[in-house]
Amino acid sequence: MRGGEVVRASQEPGVAMSNAASRARPDIGGPQDLFNSVKNTIGLPTIVRGENIYIFDDQGNRYLDAISGAMTAQLGQGNRRVLDAMHDQGMRHSFSYVRTTRHLPNLQLTEKIARLAGPGLERVHLSSGGSEAVEMGVKFLRQYAFATGQRRRTKVLSLMPSYHGGTLGTIGWTGDEDSAAVWGEMAHFSTKIPAPLSYRPPGGGTSRDGALYAAARIEQSIQELGPENVLAFIVEPVGGQSTGANVADPVFFTELRRICDRHGVFVVFDEVMSACRTGSFLAAHEINDCKPDIVVTAKGLGAGYTPMGAVLAPAKMVDQLAELTGFNLSHTYGANPISCAGACAVLDETIERDLFGNAARMGSYIRQRLEALKARSPVIGDVRGKGLLMAVEYVRKRDTKEPFSAEVFASDRIRQIGLRHGVMLYSRRQNQGRYGEWSLIAPPLIITESQADELVDALEKSVAEFTDEMTRAGVLQ
Ligand SMILES: Cc1ncc(COP(=O)(O)O)c(C=O)c1O
Repeated sequence: MRGGEVVRASQEPGVAMSNAASRARPDIGGPQDLFNSVKNTIGLPTIVRGENIYIFDDQGNRYLDAISGAMTAQLGQGNRRVLDAMHDQGMRHSFSYVRTTRHLPNLQLTEKIARLAGPGLERVHLSSGGSEAVEMGVKFLRQYAFATGQRRRTKVLSLMPSYHGGTLGTIGWTGDEDSAAVWGEMAHFSTKIPAPLSYRPPGGGTSRDGALYAAARIEQSIQELGPENVLAFIVEPVGGQSTGANVADPVFFTELRRICDRHGVFVVFDEVMSACRTGSFLAAHEINDCKPDIVVTAKGLGAGYTPMGAVLAPAKMVDQLAELTGFNLSHTYGANPISCAGACAVLDETIERDLFGNAARMGSYIRQRLEALKARSPVIGDVRGKGLLMAVEYVRKRDTKEPFSAEVFASDRIRQIGLRHGVMLYSRRQNQGRYGEWSLIAPPLIITESQADELVDALEKSVAEFTDEMTRAGVLQ
């Protein structure tokens, strides 16, 4: 059964309801669709079943999930061990509050995470997702600075473009000019540094030149703001959707650490997306010369089975703060027992099946095939990333790196064509395409070599069809 072929009318119970919902507003969709872009939402497949790395819609079409839902479903669909662990935990003890009780799943999960994170990140605060973890991490640093007499340190620096979440706090640290226009009056927008993009280096030149340029801008900004006012620099060690899996030249991180040390500024690694995907538990483990002060993560911890996020911090800082004022923030669902039990099972599965190793092996296999595809395709300008967090960037002209126009919206057109070829992709073109556009390639960590071939073959067909379409329309010569 392949995408685009209507094989059977599904009998699944949820389908009747979703069909009824869309019949209610055939022009714009059902109630939940109204919270998304109408243009994007209508026509999205209604998923009724998942198996391994595939999802199935109510028309009987099968899609290989090339983006793990949202770079999240690391174990694919329907993992019995995770689901059983959550069920068993729920039957034993479903909820108590983290401020009034301790419970075993919280202790077990935080121990597992701390062991994987290694020395310097011994304490773990759990949250219910990425934005919450990013905010908690920065608030922890702020409270630490306040308690240790550095009361003026409030400013957080970050990169343009970047993504750190969708709450008002994290929107302010996110590097997105479009969102700044909407939320500028409400969110506290931080100073942004040009991201050290490897394909489009700021300031021109090589990727290393761009990294050095960005580093120099960090130092300049800290000096302009006054070092005594700067709390932290937050950065994705491997980029996500906002940069298309950008991997900065290593000199960027060497310089970042040196500059932040000189001015007493904390370095925060936002590993909400990159953790577990790049061949190690943390991408931080693969970066020399820049040990982050704290790390935040989420997505893959719950692997799509349950919301889960974490702030990882040094025992030294957490213990010192505990002596002074304590860390006085929490959310109701933080460290809830069912989610903790699920996340413990996710990590056990990941380790026992060597899925970090598989991410490295399959990452380099897919990378090789994508490079070969790039050599054959006139519209692929760049292939980049690390492990199973990769991207393919589309351009109208490879020699000048000129992107396609907004009307073409190449990455979304390729996503749509991909559905017909049985592959689920995700498109992003932001800031008027200033930084380009791409498809992230981030399948579940359980992907096999034959499934990797299927993924790249489907992408190749989709890109070829798009190229023909653009040639016929005169967009490509
Ligand atoms: C790097 C990064 N930080 C933060 C977030 C926000 O996470 P969430 O959507 O779970 O709030 C994301 C989500 O994509 C992300 O990629």
